[in-house]
Amino acid sequence: MTTSAQIGAIATGEFAFTDANFREIARIAKDEAGIDLPHSKATLVYSRLAKRLRALGITTFADYCETIREDDEERNSMIAALTTNVTRFFREPHHFEHLRNEIIQPLAESARRGKRIRLWSAACSTGQEPYSMALTVLSVIPEAASLDIRILATDLNPHVVARGKEGCYQKEELKDIPSNLRSKWFVPVPSKGASAMQIADSVRSLVSFRELNLMGTWPFNGPFDAIFCRNVVIYFDRETQSTIWTRLARLLRDDGALYIGHSERVAGAANALLSTDGITSYRKKGGKPS
Ligand SMILES: C[S@@+](CC[C@H](N)C(=O)[O-])C[C@H]1O[C@@H](n2cnc3c(N)ncnc32)[C@H](O)[C@@H]1O
Repeated sequence: MTTSAQIGAIATGEFAFTDANFREIARIAKDEAGIDLPHSKATLVYSRLAKRLRALGITTFADYCETIREDDEERNSMIAALTTNVTRFFREPHHFEHLRNEIIQPLAESARRGKRIRLWSAACSTGQEPYSMALTVLSVIPEAASLDIRILATDLNPHVVARGKEGCYQKEELKDIPSNLRSKWFVPVPSKGASAMQIADSVRSLVSFRELNLMGTWPFNGPFDAIFCRNVVIYFDRETQSTIWTRLARLLRDDGALYIGHSERVAGAANALLSTDGITSYRKKGGKPS
């Protein structure tokens, strides 16, 4: 006999999980972080959140829904559990070649005369992306830390932002960094273990880490010379993606560059503002700055 508790059940294993629970979680994830969770993701949601229920000693998703209704911190932990922070140094190396050759090289002389350069890593995870941007800048302008050059690194998840700020990585994570940059800009931190390496202070000083939800307001006006917004809008529905592309394009200076993830494409109104310039690289229309 079917009990009323089983009606609409997605899972009845370790934790009871109903359609109604899934819909509530999906609505909160969408409202809070833009994350689009179609019903086909229900099993994924169950497995990602099961560890949260275990950690909290909660035995049903109905109780978990009650918790996230009231507890801001747990809502953040839920969003963190539903997203992935996978990243690495110099991921999609062609973007860093483009940044070096098309953006930083042409600006190097004027930067030495005091011109500002602003870059943004808009979903920076644990910092490998903004530090790869910083190392790219330093490969062209070794004295960058004493010039008006800054990299903004933001992410929704406070834990990854804290790790990025710390700038501490295991030796194996540094393997994709060109060896000349690796030996110059990383120092061992024996207190954190035999293979712990920290990025040098002069690199860290170029990067400012902040918590920022791309779905909220952005408390800065740009213009940026380049924006990396990679492997994050894949979580959003098409309409939200399109809004984000347009907002990013508006913050670029003319001819500034937007880099996006390998499985992402700019679509919608932003196409009127951007033209393609290589693999998943775009330039703001409007001509080269003087
Ligand atoms: C897969 S990582 C991508 C890291 C890096 N951009 C890269 O491509 O290597 C996705 C990051 O997006 C962040 N994220 C997810 N939703 C977000 C949102 N609404 N606003 C800002 N960051 C978000 C996650 O916290 C995660 O760190």
